Amino acid sequence: MALIQETDYGTPIRTAETMVTLEIDGKPVTVPAGTSVMRAAVEAGVPVPKLCATDSVEAFGSCRLCLVEVEGRRGTPASCTTLAEPGMKVHTQSPKLAKLRRGVMELYISDHPLDCLTCAANGNCELQDMAGVVGLREVRYGYEGANHLKSKKDESNPYFAFEPSKCIVCSRCVRACEEVQGTFALTIEGRGFASKVSAGGTDFLSSECVSCGACVQACPTATLMEKSVIAKGQAEHSVVTTCAYCGVGCSFKAELQGSEVVRMVPFKDGKANHGHSCVKGRFAWGYTTHKDRILKPMVRAKITDPWREVTWEEAIKHAASEFKRIQAKYGRESIGGITSSRCTNEETYLVQKLIRAGFGNNNVDTCARVCHSPTGYGLRTTFGTSAGTQDFDSVDAADVIMVIGANPTDAHPVFASHMKKRLREGARLIVVDPRRIDLVKTAHVKADYHLPLQPGTNVAVIDAMAHVVVTEGLVNEKFVQERCDLEAFEQWRKFVAEERNSPEALESATGVPAADLRAAARLYATGGNAAIYYGLGVTEHSQGSTMVMGMANLAMATGNLGKRGVGVNPLRGQNNVQGSCDMGSFPHEFSGYRHVSDESTRKLFEQAWQVELQNEPGLRISNMLDAACEGTFKGIYIQGEDILQSDPNTKHVTAGLAGMECVIVQDLFLNETASYAHIFFPGSSFLEKDGTFTNAERRISRVRKAVPPTAGMADWEITQAFSNALGYPMNYNHPSEIMAEIARLTPTFAGVTFEKIDELGSVQWPCNDKAPEGTPVMHIGGFVRGKGRFMITEFIPTDERTTGRFPLILTTGRILTQYNVGAQTARTENNVWHPEDILEIHPLDAETRGIREGDRVALTSRAGETTLHAHITERVQPGVVYTTFHHGFTGANVVTTEFEDWATGCPEYKVTAVQVALARKMSEWQEQYLETRKQTTQILTGAAGD
Ligand code: SF4
Ligand code: SF4
Ligand code: SF4
Ligand code: FES
Repeated sequence: MALIQETDYGTPIRTAETMVTLEIDGKPVTVPAGTSVMRAAVEAGVPVPKLCATDSVEAFGSCRLCLVEVEGRRGTPASCTTLAEPGMKVHTQSPKLAKLRRGVMELYISDHPLDCLTCAANGNCELQDMAGVVGLREVRYGYEGANHLKSKKDESNPYFAFEPSKCIVCSRCVRACEEVQGTFALTIEGRGFASKVSAGGTDFLSSECVSCGACVQACPTATLMEKSVIAKGQAEHSVVTTCAYCGVGCSFKAELQGSEVVRMVPFKDGKANHGHSCVKGRFAWGYTTHKDRILKPMVRAKITDPWREVTWEEAIKHAASEFKRIQAKYGRESIGGITSSRCTNEETYLVQKLIRAGFGNNNVDTCARVCHSPTGYGLRTTFGTSAGTQDFDSVDAADVIMVIGANPTDAHPVFASHMKKRLREGARLIVVDPRRIDLVKTAHVKADYHLPLQPGTNVAVIDAMAHVVVTEGLVNEKFVQERCDLEAFEQWRKFVAEERNSPEALESATGVPAADLRAAARLYATGGNAAIYYGLGVTEHSQGSTMVMGMANLAMATGNLGKRGVGVNPLRGQNNVQGSCDMGSFPHEFSGYRHVSDESTRKLFEQAWQVELQNEPGLRISNMLDAACEGTFKGIYIQGEDILQSDPNTKHVTAGLAGMECVIVQDLFLNETASYAHIFFPGSSFLEKDGTFTNAERRISRVRKAVPPTAGMADWEITQAFSNALGYPMNYNHPSEIMAEIARLTPTFAGVTFEKIDELGSVQWPCNDKAPEGTPVMHIGGFVRGKGRFMITEFIPTDERTTGRFPLILTTGRILTQYNVGAQTARTENNVWHPEDILEIHPLDAETRGIREGDRVALTSRAGETTLHAHITERVQPGVVYTTFHHGFTGANVVTTEFEDWATGCPEYKVTAVQVALARKMSEWQEQYLETRKQTTQILTGAAGD
């Protein structure tokens, strides 16, 4: 394996339809109009020396190294800022150009430390390369004059260092921060010789910097450099793989020395990220080698016993005999399993196959249950597919962007940067969120409308928007006539037109001023291409599925479907939420969302799997826990999911797990759920296995093994071994064979193979004979279900109401630097930014409770109590408090309740009636938590010492 070197074209790609042909050093080349001479030259195979240009940012023209000569023109223009023109004849080499370039390099080098041999960038430094390319042999000006060689290093960021003595003030970093990331954290301060890069006049850690790494990526010298490279040296080979954090699904090059990762570099050819990254994927990979990783299988008879390390063979044999014993004693339905949205498609598919075919029941569920199950239900009912409608690049064609219940700058950062770029180009923005998220007002982006609704009133807001569209004559009648079920449409039109659905009538429920809501609805309906992006603020409600259908109704009524720039787009939280749903992880569906009661589908699987399958849906997670509390459900196999921390009503989950006789946890770490486990299978990280992830755009990307599984087995191998031990044979040699089976049995995946993904880079399902290279935008010309179906979306307030005892509404969300339950990010230096969950509270609510900034407060609901520190802020409105759920000690789900989406059972995490009061000590639950953790650590120490 070699180090993958991507070509730097110097300036960004252009996509104009008009093409121009020119000649560079005698070679003809044809490029889209607007392309720079520099880029055209690279495309012609004639690279021009450069320093201040790189293809992730627009040309700046400051270094003057890229000078060229153009026949018929005077002077030596910079090729990066000169546009290609038809018939141009360009010369990149001449004695005059060579002399000029050497002069430029001489100046740079005279103010640069001459420590190339000991510099961390040695061998991977553009300044060094260019000195060689232009043939610089001597520096006439000496090194004694005024210089920057003693400038102070900034090592405040945990992941990269800034060494200004090496800076050539090319401004690539500043432009990357502005153009690629959209954060504007960097500036060039001062002028001429005094000019220098500054992180807002302070250090990187305390600046606006969000550690995306774009500046580090853009820097041509060792000025901005990953600390891991400084410590370990340059990598020697690389593997292209996919980020294992969020549903954006960024492609990365894992760069390694032997089997040690040196750095993760965003892959320019990645179709979801185009070479950009966020702090998690770029830097927070240290958890993969964290000392807490469990590397040996472990078993114990009781959850109070110490763990005993055993061989893989013994662990798997024991697991199989326990599950067989339980089924023999309590019946076939007494066991089940949970698939993971963090594992690959192949691994997820295998777990559900094991359960359906090996366990002989349909008791399989996935953590997607607690996040995006309403997306599947709502979009399938209205459009016919359980997935988002667009690819990310579609946002480039959006004129109006409506973000509902999502916080992309924190939860989907790379797509947020893409979206912000479009907003800076002039797209309009509507934000529907109880909280003033960053997008409402951030550097160079400001929402046209922020509708700060009361948590739990999404459906009222979407109905009121639809009311405006219908009653003000803004329906796209042609689209509806041609594309939708007219009977359902007429019923819906009548329903939303009712006065009780007007913005004015619903104002007291939603808290959104009617005039703002009307204006936002008009903008959405008439502002050109309008795209909806939404997150868990839509789905995790008692009316989550209703709201998804409400958004689908609005998009259909305004014709915002079936082309670029529009659509209804879920932003998926975890890397493979889409994939885990696609793979048949729900108790009622086989892969490709086909119901288990469907005779022909079931027959297909029965034939392929050589086993009789049940035709009734099995138990959901919550049903399994209920049954465990009732004593009828006794064994569970949980792959890569910490239900104790991520599922609602922690006390209920605890009781359910405690009622089981065999809990098998397969994970990287001894997570909270493992405190109740009897068998632990050490899982493998994304760097240790082959497979695929499917992101929020339905994009299937390869996960490639960069290092061997640290504990000896990849997750799919563990499931296969478990299945074989149970007596249901599985004999795959490689995950590509599992994908071949998925493709054979799933029409939307029929054309997917590892070879095709390797060839195309990635592929978006549906991928089959009709769409051999995949489907970036869905529902073009017609909906998957035929006619689009409008659904009546009656607003029914949640049963979770504020009372005198619990007068505030708690809503929850994510923060940039942490990920879900913190299992991965909390084991990295990301803790520098967010070491604990904080409760945001409005100044008025804080004042009436005597709460000051940083006070410890008790957060109490009828389900339970926890404590955390308060942050007083107007980001939340009076009456609403907000926290994140990343740290086990906070136990945000101790306070969330049992209410759930009526259609899918997705928990209502976003609305909990609570009280907040000053607290002197931690809650009882937290004391217990610490005690359990202490015991776990002791148990672990005992195991290691065995
Ligand atoms: S890491 Fe990202 S946000 Fe921070 S300064 Fe660099 S480009 Fe800007
Ligand atoms: S830090 Fe790097 S990218 Fe930024 S101006 Fe200096 S040399 Fe250029
Ligand atoms: S945006 Fe998501 S997929 Fe991309 S690097 Fe960040 S966490 Fe990974
Ligand atoms: S690369 Fe063109 S002026 Fe610097």
